[in-house]
Amino acid sequence: MAQIIDGKMVAAFVKGNAADEVKVLKEKGIDVCLAVILVGNDPASTVYVANKRKDCDQLNIVSKEYALPETTTMEELLNLIDELNNDKDVHGILCQLPLPRHLDENKVLNAISPVKDVDAFHPENVGRIMMGKYDFLPCTPAGIMEMLKYYNIDAQGKNCVVIGRSNIVGKPMAMLMLHANATVTICHSKTKNLAHICKTADILIAAVGRADFVTADMVKEGAVVIDVGINRNENGKLCGDVKFEEVSKIASMITPVPGGVGPMTRAMLMCNTVTAAKKQNGI
Ligand code: GUN
Repeated sequence: MAQIIDGKMVAAFVKGNAADEVKVLKEKGIDVCLAVILVGNDPASTVYVANKRKDCDQLNIVSKEYALPETTTMEELLNLIDELNNDKDVHGILCQLPLPRHLDENKVLNAISPVKDVDAFHPENVGRIMMGKYDFLPCTPAGIMEMLKYYNIDAQGKNCVVIGRSNIVGKPMAMLMLHANATVTICHSKTKNLAHICKTADILIAAVGRADFVTADMVKEGAVVIDVGINRNENGKLCGDVKFEEVSKIASMITPVPGGVGPMTRAMLMCNTVTAAKKQNGI
């Protein structure tokens, strides 16, 4: 039976360190502040934004929430971002995705100042990740790297397979594993022999968005399996991309859902906000 990688525990550790930094900054007269923009009433986004507020409260980070109606225009949204970019008291800006269809997501992400871009979605920050010289990392890949570090899982020389090529998870994740000297393969919906490639992985990272996609026959004996998925199965139960029950019998270490990658993603947003506050104050 695989060892469980406890994301909740590592997140508590990471948030504890971030809270200490918030305290030190407060002593210097800096109140770390995150602005979160939510447009419309997407139920999942509403829950995510509420969770971000809870995390900020827990760490004594000031959270400013901007809940805008579904009918918000591009001009109104860009005006708000401009205002927040110029507000010295705001260190991090996050615009919750997905946006309503009439709004241009790329334009919005481009408008957020790269120094306040705690999602690391701005092209400048994406480019910095490619070069290995970055201030911010997208929260999910950053959280996975922290978990690997905490459990002393060294990627050097290992075969790492990432399933999924999204801008938010798959692509930056692959790049970080490459920086960690892994040999990296990215699989996606058009990949041939996907099961065979997955079975070569010493570290398998599933970011597909399909419940129970990774089955035991796709996993090498003793592999480390990281499950990024947050799905609902046919019974409405929260589950990952990995068929936990059978894969946990083959893997050496595995992240559960819930309690694995999710809490780490939340924790890393807090870390990025602290980093932003430090950078903007020359610390
Ligand atoms: N929607 C789902 N995940 C995310 C995220 O990490 N950042 C933003 N801005 N929106 C999201």
